[in-house]
Amino acid sequence: MVAKADETHWTQVAPQWIAWARSPQHDVFWAYRDALVEFLGPNAGDALEIGCGEGRVSRELRKLGYRVTATDAVAAMVDAARQSDSADQYAVAGASDLPFDDKQFDLVMAYNVLMDVDDVSAALQEARRVMKPKGLLFISLVHPFRDRGRFAGPEPDAAFILEGTYYGRERFEGEEEHSGLRMHFSGWSQPLQDYMAAMEKTGLAIASLREPVPDKAAENRLRQWTRIPLFIWLKVRIL
Ligand SMILES: C[S@@+](CC[C@H](N)C(=O)[O-])C[C@H]1O[C@@H](n2cnc3c(N)ncnc32)[C@H](O)[C@@H]1O
Repeated sequence: MVAKADETHWTQVAPQWIAWARSPQHDVFWAYRDALVEFLGPNAGDALEIGCGEGRVSRELRKLGYRVTATDAVAAMVDAARQSDSADQYAVAGASDLPFDDKQFDLVMAYNVLMDVDDVSAALQEARRVMKPKGLLFISLVHPFRDRGRFAGPEPDAAFILEGTYYGRERFEGEEEHSGLRMHFSGWSQPLQDYMAAMEKTGLAIASLREPVPDKAAENRLRQWTRIPLFIWLKVRIL
């Protein structure tokens, strides 16, 4: 089988990602974690994470009381998730080809993975298939504004500049480096209406939406992201 572009990239960068995501307080995930837990709410049941990476979101779901199945297209990610006891079950599986029966999960978690998959519609169809009829699909995306624009400088009130257009589907590539760790991100940027169109086609609807801000502890470091949303979170239901 020929590996897909998204899986090839993430296989190459798996060691980088595992170090990046595992290093305590290293990336922005931690500044949004409390808001995530609050928005998810106290529900529990059977949860599936697609694109689990080294497992930090699965570990949060477990703390909330979910029985968690952690999956990722990349075997090294699933191995890392297993080593940290992140979930109750594990599978190496692409988002568009999940090895599960229909209507199994109360929650399907897609945390910062849909920007990476080549075929968003196919991933949404699979998520819908494995969700219970009253189940929840939780999607976190890096906000498309963030991909298309940039701050003019490091100052908290620096102008946010959009060059080109917000519209259209484009590859993004970027290297981030800090505190001795480097991460090469690569994926797809598309406007929110494209995600919405894929959901409509799949019989899914947004029930709730948040554009979270970083928590107080990280506010100084991430001041710019209190002005423009870095992430968008969607609670999605079957129509
Ligand atoms: C940015 S990381 C997010 C990991 C984790 N959800 C987190 O927030 O810490 C994206 C993950 O999606 C996985 N991934 C990329 N394409 C995928 C696909 N088509 N199916 C399943 N997982 C995929 C990558 O291997 C990687 O682990």
